[in-house]
Amino acid sequence: MLTARIAVLASGGGTNLQALIDSQGGVLTSGSISLVIADRAGLQAEARAQAAGIASAVIPRREEGFEGRVLDALEKHRIDFLILAGFLGILSKDFIERFPGPIINIHPSLIPAFCGKGFYGLRVHQAALDYGVKVTGATVHYVNEVPDGGQILLQKAVEVRPGDTAERLQSRVLREAEWKLLPQAAEIVSAQLVREKENTL
Ligand code: GAR
Repeated sequence: MLTARIAVLASGGGTNLQALIDSQGGVLTSGSISLVIADRAGLQAEARAQAAGIASAVIPRREEGFEGRVLDALEKHRIDFLILAGFLGILSKDFIERFPGPIINIHPSLIPAFCGKGFYGLRVHQAALDYGVKVTGATVHYVNEVPDGGQILLQKAVEVRPGDTAERLQSRVLREAEWKLLPQAAEIVSAQLVREKENTL
């Protein structure tokens, strides 16, 4: 069966990457994770890829030529579809135009709340707590040139509880929303790509 070749770009702990890896053969059947790119050396994301036998590369985000090197790696591994899973940088318009496939991102809030430049990781949850919202969540969206501004694919709400800290809220949002949504979104986009590939055969 044809499958979409997926690359995952990560900047941190890689728990969303792990959820994707674990979903292969379950929720994720139309795509296979073929490459993991960690944007720093020594990240858990790289170790998780290696433990799963998936090709990995370290391409430091702060070094000159980062985007070009990522594009080269995606081409070399014949990647159809790129997933930003805890990627804390912002990709340029040029990068988005040059990569021919879809790019999706997971963000730990209900977009359009608490998103855009400067909202990443724990800062997003702290902003939700500071505002006093009673419901937050996660969003998977297509990536365009506006940070967190592309078309929404999936969202899931998560309750904020009295006494929450940013850390507690982050872990509830990961558990109840992100680790479920991202594999579902990966399958939706992969299935679409497979249909397109089949139509061109
Ligand atoms: C996740 O909560 C993800 O949504 C967030 O960083 C965390 C990474 O966790 N991403 C952003 O804030 C992007 N704006 P992980 O490395 O364990 O998947």
